[in-house]
Parts: sequence; C-alpha cells; structure tokens
Amino acid sequence: MTRSIQLPPHILAIDPYVPGKPIETLERELGIRDSIKLASNENPLGPSPRAAAAVRAAIDNLHRYPDGAGHEFIAALSAHLGCRPENLIMGNGSDDIIALLTQVLLHPGDRAVMPRPSFLMYEIAVRTVGAEPIFVPLDNLTIDLDGILRAVDAKTRMVFLCNPNNPTGKIIRQADFERFFDALPPAVVVVVDEAYIEFVRDPDCLQTIDFSKAERPLVTLRTFSKLYGLAGLRVGYGIMPAALAEGLNRIRQPFNVNLLAQIGARAGLEDREFVNATLHCVHSGLDYLYGELDRLELTYHPTQANFFLIDMQRDAQAVFEAMLRQGVIVRSMKSYGFPRCIRVNVGTADENRRFIAALGAVIDQIAAEPAADV
Ligand SMILES: Cc1ncc(COP(=O)(O)O)c(C=O)c1O
Repeated sequence: MTRSIQLPPHILAIDPYVPGKPIETLERELGIRDSIKLASNENPLGPSPRAAAAVRAAIDNLHRYPDGAGHEFIAALSAHLGCRPENLIMGNGSDDIIALLTQVLLHPGDRAVMPRPSFLMYEIAVRTVGAEPIFVPLDNLTIDLDGILRAVDAKTRMVFLCNPNNPTGKIIRQADFERFFDALPPAVVVVVDEAYIEFVRDPDCLQTIDFSKAERPLVTLRTFSKLYGLAGLRVGYGIMPAALAEGLNRIRQPFNVNLLAQIGARAGLEDREFVNATLHCVHSGLDYLYGELDRLELTYHPTQANFFLIDMQRDAQAVFEAMLRQGVIVRSMKSYGFPRCIRVNVGTADENRRFIAALGAVIDQIAAEPAADV
C-alpha cells in the first residue's frame, strides 16, 4: 500500500519565502568571482567588531545552554530603550517574533490586514495558523493607512505595518499614524515592523516605541540584522504590552535565542562607533548613488531605509541577470509587483562605485536591444 503525505490546505496556500542566495552559491553557479551582493539589505561594513569579539570570547562556553530568559540581554535592551523588561521579548530574528505573535493572537478564520507589497513573512505567519491575510495595495509606494482602516472588519485581529516599508523604503508619518491608531477598534493589535527605522532621516517619521511601552495594543519589532550587522546571528526583539509578552513567553522555544546571539547582540548594542560608521556609510552612500543615477538619467524612488527601488524601464529579471554577469547581485522586484524595478541596498563606497559601473554597462547593453513591453 502506498501512503502519501496530505498537507492541509492552509499550508498548501503558502508560497515559500525565497531568500537571496548566498554569494558563494551564486559565484559557484555562474562561474564568477569577486562579486558583490547588494540584494538582502545587509550591513556592508560587516558585523559590529565589538559583537564579533564577544562572540569569539564566548566560544568555549558552547557546551552550556543559553540563559532561556535572556536576563542580561533583556536588561541591557531595557536600559538602552528606556522600557520595562516585562515589555520585551527576544527572538531568533524578528521573523521569530512575527510567527509567535500570529500564534498567540490569531485563531483559524481570523483576519490580519497588511500592506502589499511588503515584507513577505507577515503573510506566511498568518497563513501558517489558518488565519486569513487581507492585502491593501500601497498608494504611490506608501502604506495606505486609510485603505487599511477600510479593510478592517469584525474578524480582524491584527494589522501589520512596515516602517520604512520593505521593498519601497517609504515611511509612515507620526501624525497620520496617530489618527489611524485612534480610529482602530481596540481589539485589533497593530504590529509595526521597524527593521530599518534607525536609517530614517525624515524627522516626521513615526517612532512607535512610546506607544508600545505604554501598554497600548501595539507591538514594535526591531532587529540586530541590519544596523548592527548581525543577520547571521539571528536576533530580533519586540516591545509590547506585558500581558502579550507573557503570552509569547508561554509558547516560544525555551532557548529561542542562542548563547552566541545573546552575547553578540548585547555587545553590539554598546558599539556606538560601529553604529555611527554604519549610518554614515548608508547616508553618504545613498547621496552618492542618487547623484550617479541622476547622471545616468534613471528613475529611482528615494528611500528612508538602506535600500531603494530603481525603475529600469525594462524587464527587471533581465536586468537582474545582466547585473549578475557583471558580478553584482541585486533583487528583481518582478515577484513583488514591480516588473521594471530592481531593489538595491547601499554598499561600501567601493561597492557603490562598482554597482554604478555595472549598471552603466548594462544600460549600454540594453540600449542596443529593442525595448521590451513589460
Ligand atoms: C521588514 C523586515 N522585517 C523583518 C526582517 C527580518 O529580520 P530578522 O533578520 O531580524 O529576522 C527583514 C529582513 O530582511 C525585513 O526586511
């Protein structure tokens, strides 16, 4: 008798998240060397040196379990943020906390409203628990808060927002959010994913931390993957009402943030020099890239994050492949609903120059080809 595995329909409805390929894999597949990756919004300067040193120093303790409650890490975070430890949850990346929130807050059949396109893990986490994602299209690349309000109904239990939004880099304004938040039914929990908030230069940008500290139905998500250069360690955190944090603590794996991750992230938090260097790199890099794209007469969408969209006026997948052959890895935005756009993150000054040179070469190539209808 043959037996086949039957997956439930709500799992079959999930399109798996496709992460950017590691640079080594791409080089092997394409037979290229010395390529640069500007596709996953990582920190181009590498990891925080203080974090790396702390991780190295902790290697001999790998036979020990980590502190499951993360006392020292949580204490350091709470001092850094000025909030109570009861309002903090640590996660194996902020992805982990997104999943925990949906498990704690949603029943099968409940709804969670989210912008589209935005970070894909919201949809995956919602579908995983048999709940229904409701998508609200962006308005001019920006999250449409009024559209989200209109989409909220009696079945809605959560709203996801991403500020600045990935992949468009556009922000939510503080005043707009306050109106939006006040108009929501109190039973709806708003999750604001601030993975890139530290890169924002616009003073009108929403900062939710004061809301989430104040025991309102709001969660702020942050990560060590970007500003601190620790994507490989997997550390994120959430700031939320104590009763919700208590719910997440009931179901999270007891050691969800590993020993090296806790130690590395705590040291990274103190690495002011690296944080300043990263901010300088991203901001000066953006200014340089904007200037060069103006010179190349390309349309781009200014950002408040460490990545942005460039409208290539051509099939983005073809541009992505042509850039790969130049040894530069970017992200095609075709599957995000922007068929002519690529997303690129800021690199080091050297990487930014290489990116511009490669882009110039690709433009020359495509100028020689007939325009494609996309
Ligand atoms: C908007 C957004 N949220 C969350 C994450 C995931 O962060 P982490 O590495 O902490 O899981 C990313 C990663 O790219 C992201 O772009």
